[in-house]
Amino acid sequence: MYEKYIMAIDQGTTSSRAIIVNQVGQIIASDQAEFKQYYPQAGWVEHDPQEIWNNVQKVMSGALINGQLDPQQIHAIGITNQRETSLIWDQKTGQPIYNAIVWQSRQTSAISDDLLDKGYGSFIQERTGLIPDAYFSATKIRWILDHVPGAQARAEAGDLLFGTIDTWLLWKLSNGQVHMTDYTNASRTMLLNLKTLDWDDEILHLLNIPKKILPQLKSNSEIYAHAQSYHFHDHQVPIAAMIGDQQAALFGQLAFEKGMVKSTYGTGAFIIMNTGQEIRLSDHQLLSTVAYVLGDQVTYALEGSIFVAGSAIQWLRDGLNLFSKASESEALAMDASDQETPIYMVPAFTGLGAPYWNPDVRGMILGLSRGTNKADLAKATLQAIAYQVKDVVDTMEADAKMEINQVRVDGGAASNHYLLQFQADILGKELVQAQEVETTALGAAYLAGLATNYWQSLDQLKALLGQGQVFQPHMDQIQGQKLYQGWQKAVKAAAYYAD
Ligand code: G3P
Repeated sequence: MYEKYIMAIDQGTTSSRAIIVNQVGQIIASDQAEFKQYYPQAGWVEHDPQEIWNNVQKVMSGALINGQLDPQQIHAIGITNQRETSLIWDQKTGQPIYNAIVWQSRQTSAISDDLLDKGYGSFIQERTGLIPDAYFSATKIRWILDHVPGAQARAEAGDLLFGTIDTWLLWKLSNGQVHMTDYTNASRTMLLNLKTLDWDDEILHLLNIPKKILPQLKSNSEIYAHAQSYHFHDHQVPIAAMIGDQQAALFGQLAFEKGMVKSTYGTGAFIIMNTGQEIRLSDHQLLSTVAYVLGDQVTYALEGSIFVAGSAIQWLRDGLNLFSKASESEALAMDASDQETPIYMVPAFTGLGAPYWNPDVRGMILGLSRGTNKADLAKATLQAIAYQVKDVVDTMEADAKMEINQVRVDGGAASNHYLLQFQADILGKELVQAQEVETTALGAAYLAGLATNYWQSLDQLKALLGQGQVFQPHMDQIQGQKLYQGWQKAVKAAAYYAD
């Protein structure tokens, strides 16, 4: 008998990954491929959906080859993905009618501004848990239907299909047989009613989006379809999980209890608190969203989405050529000497997300002197990531009316010890690093395994998880407060400049 494994596809913002997990939750093989980012105009970000699909096929077979596995050894597949990124395709030809508009893109901000100007902000927040913004799929759908000639009529005639990236991959893997999404991805479209867990007819009407283009809604852990046999040498593999990547990280961190918080440091940084079966609407501009749905039990979450985190380090690397590997920022920051007037970097390249939601702010560096060098800039940039996370965690405590004692951290930049120590210091809280940095993909693997009896229960999963390093706060509180006040002034200065 062959040993069986779970494959998770993690289709992120800049790369596609496939990982293969064994029964004890270890990653035994993986593959990764980056893909192209398109910037047709300033502030716009697009992806080629066909390129994403090609990449996914490549990494699926790459992971099998790297693990020297027979395709029949794949027991089930889970999909996790960059959320909100949206595309529309022709259901007969399968051809996208426009590129996928990426979550970071600001090209649809006139649509969200219009909703806010017309006073729909709280109506939309009450229904969907979200603050109207170009970030969410609804504005992207409206934009594509407006800009591709004939698209609105074709959508009304039922010729077009909309999907976030989970839906697109499921549709492709099943050879166009199923058009479905899961509740976590749906909860980022600004079209899902959080209470009824159905598409919201009034919001659809408001945005003139025909309901027939939307996918069917599904839980996070069930068999939606089987991957077409040609991917697995005539073996039909169940696709048994779909989940947005930030919710997948929460699940991968096994943060199943109410009040547990995780922060994932990827392109952006995303802080999520499990709020149990309760929808907690934020009074401070955080988002309410679906954490996961298992069977008919819904778990909700509060989320603070920060648009620029790891991508600020990438900018130092690729935009300013300060170093050749992002990981070098750690040693540089540790080497930088403490300045009497600290340097602040506000990485608002695409506006500021939670809790500010200001699309017009742009980046700023303050406090430069003749002696400033690249180590200082690396340090200021890593600190900026930590300050932004503090903005959100403080807001979350106020919203949830409870103290957060511990934050679980994961994602690429969570291997940067300078960042994690400074994060613990500035938060004044314990940080627990995930043992396995691929928490997002693990979350999708766990859900696919639960749906197919590979694993039997959440308790069994809990027994699999080890923990990485723990970071305790050491900084003097007064010093921390002073530093953070400086950050708040820097954000104000950037906003003032944008005004
Ligand atoms: O909401 C956007 C988020 O899902 C993107 O995550 O890890 O691809 O940057 P990531």
